[in-house]
Amino acid sequence: MIVSRSLHAGLLLRLGVVLVLLLALDGVASYFTALHFANLVYDRWLIDSTRSLAQAVRSEHGLIEFDLPRVALKVFQFDEVDKTYFKVSSGRQGFIAGDRDLPDSGPIPVGGLRLSFATTHGQRVRLVSTRIAPGQAGDAVTVSVAESLLKRSTLTREILVGMAAPQIGLLGIALLLVWIGVFRGLKPLTDLAAQIESRDQNNLSPVPQSGLPRETRVLVARINALLARLGNAMRAQKRFVADAAHQLRTPLAAVLLHAERAERAPDTTSEREALRALHRSVKRTARVSQQLLALARTDPEAISAIELKSVDLGSLARRVGEEWIPRALEREIDFGLAVPDEQVSVAGDERLLSEMLSNLIDNALRYGNAGGRVTLMVEGGPHPRLSVQDDGPGIPPEERTRIFERFYRLPSEGGEGCGLGLAIVEEIARLHKATVEVSGGPDNRGSRFTVVFGLAT
Ligand SMILES: Nc1ncnc2c1ncn2[C@@H]1O[C@H](COP(=O)(O)OP(=O)(O)OP(=O)(O)O)[C@@H](O)[C@H]1O
Ligand SMILES: [Mg+2]
Repeated sequence: MIVSRSLHAGLLLRLGVVLVLLLALDGVASYFTALHFANLVYDRWLIDSTRSLAQAVRSEHGLIEFDLPRVALKVFQFDEVDKTYFKVSSGRQGFIAGDRDLPDSGPIPVGGLRLSFATTHGQRVRLVSTRIAPGQAGDAVTVSVAESLLKRSTLTREILVGMAAPQIGLLGIALLLVWIGVFRGLKPLTDLAAQIESRDQNNLSPVPQSGLPRETRVLVARINALLARLGNAMRAQKRFVADAAHQLRTPLAAVLLHAERAERAPDTTSEREALRALHRSVKRTARVSQQLLALARTDPEAISAIELKSVDLGSLARRVGEEWIPRALEREIDFGLAVPDEQVSVAGDERLLSEMLSNLIDNALRYGNAGGRVTLMVEGGPHPRLSVQDDGPGIPPEERTRIFERFYRLPSEGGEGCGLGLAIVEEIARLHKATVEVSGGPDNRGSRFTVVFGLAT
């Protein structure tokens, strides 16, 4: 495999290798074509010579004679480049004229002609033989003419050189066109890379897709989706940092103040008092941090998808409800659970759903009347419902939307709580494609928060 870090170089190399291989193949084909035609041309001349020599064979009184004037023979044998040999022999008389060493070709029928390659006087020759039966001699005569191969190989070479020059030129042009084609073809990609490279690191805006080929558009779409998610996560993180800085400042200042007061307290009573205040401030700081982190975890800008599993709302309510029994006992609240016998399953994240339910129970136990009643309810059906109901002061209808805003608390509320619980509830519900409804409790006393799930699993 060709490994190249540059797409350009890799493509050029692959295409270049293919082109050179094609040229090499073409060269081999050209060589054989050239050889074929060189043989064709010189073979014709050799056949003519053989036939001419055969004309000089005569039969006198049953005796074969080869009768060619010396001058004619000289003319026949004259060649500046190659050496020419001939031989006349007959079945009965044996060698008659010419070159005794010239090898015989295989058997030929009378009147036939045979072309072959042979070796004589230490060199390769082209051998043409014919067989004739002159007069009434009753004897068959073989006339052979041979010629060395110098002219043929020279002609072959000349044809090859003549053909190779334009082919090498063509290869050059083809390589140039391939080079231009590769650069043109990859231009959208290199432009895209240059565009992304020149970007400011804080620029998370989508990469424009117009004018891009189909293959790169998929890539760009994926990059853009990633950029969008990254942008969301960064926004969520910024919001968290801003909220944390803002919301933790006050309780931390209080912690510091009460700690200093405790240190400087003149007597045990005021020290106790300062320590109690310090404890409250620390609890509040812890609550704010915990709620801020919970909200950051559920921020849909930070998480694009949650892993949904089948969760049974009945057992969830039972498990989370149990955790809150001590708090209910503290305030002497009658904490009840109404769960149907059959399973009520929804697709959800158990940890997030527990967090959601905890916040609703926390509110009911906190804002409900001491000695009152809080009920946790699960209802099945195509749209499963999870509700928490109390008989406290309730929420005025005009406030029922605002209480879901971050940090919003009813003006009547005291120091406890930081106004994030219902925002967390709403985010978690949204992640589960569920809605949160607020209404009054039975007899319009207290309040009831109901999470309605999209579809039962
Ligand atoms: N069951 C309820 N009965 C009466 N008022 C409620 C009830 N639940 C919520 N509220 C009002 O809505 C406000 C917002 O509730 P939320 O849970 O968002 O914040 P919080 O309870 O003040 O703080 P925390 O983030 O600690 O939960 C509360 O301050 C309270 O005034
Ligand atoms: Mg709350």
